[in-house]
Amino acid sequence: MCGIIGLIASKSSPNNIEALVLGLKRMEYRGYDSAGIAFMAGNQIKTVRSKGKIASLEDKLGQSLESTKLGIGHTRWATHGDPSEINAHPHTVGKISIVHNGIIENYQELKQELIELGCEFSSETDSEVVAQLINYYYQQSDLDFVGAVRQALTRLKGAYGLAIIAEDQPDQLIVARQASPLLIGLSDHATYIASDPMAIISYTDRIIYLEDKEYAVLGAGSYQVYDFDHNLRDVTPETIELDPGQIQKSGYDHFLIKEIMEQPEAVINVLRGRIDKQNFSSHLGGLNLPDDYFRKIDRILIVACGTAYYAGLLGKYLLEKMLNIPVDVEMASEFRYRDPATSKNTLGVVYSQSGETADSLASLREMKRRGMLTLGIINTAGSTIAREVDGGIYLHAGPEISVASTKAFSSMSIATLLLGLEIGRYRQLSIERSMEVIQALGSLANDIEGVLSLDQEIKLLASKIAKFGHMMYLGRDSLYPIAIEGSHKLKEVSYIQAEAYPAGEMKHGANALLGDDLLVVFFLSNNFLYDKAKSNLAEVKARTSNILVVTDSEEQDLARGTIDVIRVKRVSDWTQGLIFNVVSQLIAYYVAVDLGRDVDQPRNLAKSVTVE
Ligand code: G6P
Repeated sequence: MCGIIGLIASKSSPNNIEALVLGLKRMEYRGYDSAGIAFMAGNQIKTVRSKGKIASLEDKLGQSLESTKLGIGHTRWATHGDPSEINAHPHTVGKISIVHNGIIENYQELKQELIELGCEFSSETDSEVVAQLINYYYQQSDLDFVGAVRQALTRLKGAYGLAIIAEDQPDQLIVARQASPLLIGLSDHATYIASDPMAIISYTDRIIYLEDKEYAVLGAGSYQVYDFDHNLRDVTPETIELDPGQIQKSGYDHFLIKEIMEQPEAVINVLRGRIDKQNFSSHLGGLNLPDDYFRKIDRILIVACGTAYYAGLLGKYLLEKMLNIPVDVEMASEFRYRDPATSKNTLGVVYSQSGETADSLASLREMKRRGMLTLGIINTAGSTIAREVDGGIYLHAGPEISVASTKAFSSMSIATLLLGLEIGRYRQLSIERSMEVIQALGSLANDIEGVLSLDQEIKLLASKIAKFGHMMYLGRDSLYPIAIEGSHKLKEVSYIQAEAYPAGEMKHGANALLGDDLLVVFFLSNNFLYDKAKSNLAEVKARTSNILVVTDSEEQDLARGTIDVIRVKRVSDWTQGLIFNVVSQLIAYYVAVDLGRDVDQPRNLAKSVTVE
């Protein structure tokens, strides 16, 4: 989703334009449909924007870059108005140029007011209203640049990360934040701003995260952060650990396959130092909840979006078995506006790779408002959700660049099992069950390595699968959430319509869909439900032979009446979902490649969805 970059440097140089463009490239993974920069060229602001990829913006900028000390840039993911050059950011109006992430909810009202005051709009965006408003106030003789921005902020409703420059103030860059991430990066040569640390990690690791309702006035080497009541805040920069090397493809064709292949390492990273074999539990240093509270929890409520939500669904199957307390999972976009019943001992858990998803953040705040204690299962350290939860578990999976989430799903599920061990040992979880979980986790990295070795087999199958226009993923028990995540992954990256059902539910409606253009992917585990699931498979086989079975059973007869069988190792029931899920990931990847899709940045999708 939209990305902001900006800088104010002590010396004018073409390298500063390069830094803006590099920042935009580093945020490409978030998904976008147009991009642009605005910078001081001499004593004027120059704005260059382009629809489509950053490469076309680079074409417009030409080979010999201009020199500048001050600039802002943006990748836009269209919300209000088509993806087009005119709607792309920065929006430059009079002396003011701005970039904006988020949505200005009262933009129509403000636009009308500004039109009546004589302002002429050139785009269809909500964001242009911000530029027009600041420019309007700046023209009032009693307001300086900072004053005009302050005045405009009092009028805006909604979510925004903003960066603003003024043509006649070449020594100031102003940023503001309300419900959309924004950070300041400090280096000896320049002060950077970005909505995503990825954009600036090549230049600095000293970061100040703005909080909601804060703005900052920046110079080269100076920063003043204020709250919206204009009190100067005492902020301390923190050092973040991000290695620019981690965001390279390292020889892979796409980030998606790189991240799928990184899963054994991700497993090791999320487990590192966290298994407590002596007490059959886990060491989770960041939970920050009183021990006594673990005994009082009467319900767990998981809230998340997208793949993180499906990790939550798998979490429900795992945690209810471990803890014997009800676990509910809600999509954050629904939860935040519903009136769900919660109790004071309901533990709220937010799953999020980015830690910035707007609906998940709003749900977290709603849970806190109700007095619930909250945990985050989060990948991105320092993200807004990570900072606002009472405690949590970091995934340490490294940056996930591909829009479709893969390694974060695995790591979230492992973090769930670790959480189950910790809470469970304060309750009824037996040593025997804990040992089962600990052993399963101990061999998981190797087990995933084993599934990844099926890579070439699945690649060869991909063209067969890609011929189908529709797919149906089926599974039972914990393989049902895995079937949903499998269908989700496939549709995200291959654009093939796919859905998922519990295998036992087909006879109540979905059997009607079985036909020539539909392929069934059947997850069959040799677990306690093997015979039941085999009967469901037989029911499907009686109606179609367009079936791909994925199984940990060695039974040879399963292949009859199918297009193929993919066999995986039989592992513990606690981790089998992750094994089957890796197969789904490889299927989705190779089918998408076969169909020539934009694998890492699928159409219409964004990595970090910071608007609701
Ligand atoms: C977007 C991404 C998905 C992701 C979801 C939740 O839709 O495209 O890959 O699963 O957001 O993101 P989060 O960062 O909260 O896990």
